[in-house]
Amino acid sequence: MIKRPKIAIVGAGGNVGAAVAQWAVLKELGELVLIDIKPGPAEGRALDLSQCGPWQGFNTKYTATDKIEAMAGADVVVMTAGVPRKPGQSREELIGINAGIVRDICKSVKQHAPDAVLIVVSNPLDAMVFVAKQVTGFPRERVIGSAGVLDSARFRTYLSMATGVSVEDIQAFVLGAHTDKDMVPVVSNAMIGNVPVTKFLSAEKLQEVVDNTKKGGATLTGLIGTSAWLAPGAGTCLMVEAIVRDQGRVLPCSVELQGEFGITGAFLGVPVKLGARGAEAVYEIELSAAEKEAFGKAVAANTELMTIARGFLG
Ligand code: LAC
Repeated sequence: MIKRPKIAIVGAGGNVGAAVAQWAVLKELGELVLIDIKPGPAEGRALDLSQCGPWQGFNTKYTATDKIEAMAGADVVVMTAGVPRKPGQSREELIGINAGIVRDICKSVKQHAPDAVLIVVSNPLDAMVFVAKQVTGFPRERVIGSAGVLDSARFRTYLSMATGVSVEDIQAFVLGAHTDKDMVPVVSNAMIGNVPVTKFLSAEKLQEVVDNTKKGGATLTGLIGTSAWLAPGAGTCLMVEAIVRDQGRVLPCSVELQGEFGITGAFLGVPVKLGARGAEAVYEIELSAAEKEAFGKAVAANTELMTIARGFLG
């Protein structure tokens, strides 16, 4: 049989993992392995997904298991394990529970899928990318956080809602941290059909869009009662697709900064080129003075979270 890309999703019993699987099946991205350390939920998600096949027209078979070693030889590992936030809770508050979970799973990734590109989705995102990088010892190209794709999708959606133009013609990135406080929606570079957004919206309206974007996850958590999963899954799947199809997409992802933007050692969302080898390049872009300041604050916040996360590395 012709070898298809092997994509392991750890935490597939949860909503975000299951959503990644759903989008990946629809896009026929490869052989899916759904893993959850708790027996039952991954198998249930896989069965549910299989039963979409008759109407959605796919026959994909999945491996679903509580055995972590099922990821052996995976080309891409998606890590969605950990607890989601509850209404009123910040992502940062999850560090005490999720850091240990992410650490343990990353030990398995190192052992069983040493050549994989690892996409981290667990929160608090940027600190969990740091944990993953430390534990696996993978080069930074192969440890990538999924958050900028989601936050940018929210930014574009709110811009579309404010202007009434198609979301597809809005080019806008969110960089910085995946936290309500230190996310940096980059207004200075945001374009609609190649025209700066400032031509479409007043400074006041733009500020409203920025505020809505930053609290986008909290808004959904308040409305749904747990954190969102469809858009987080779609954004993550876009990253998986860019890697397994070697597309060279330029997307905002969280990686270790190695001198870019004048920063070394912090993990933050920046524009990267995503292809078969992972984050193959990091691009620096011009930021306004206010955005630079916000980015600096994101670095400080990330440094603080990394200090806490270090306590779990042992
Ligand atoms: C969100 C969570 C998944 O922003 O971080 O919805």
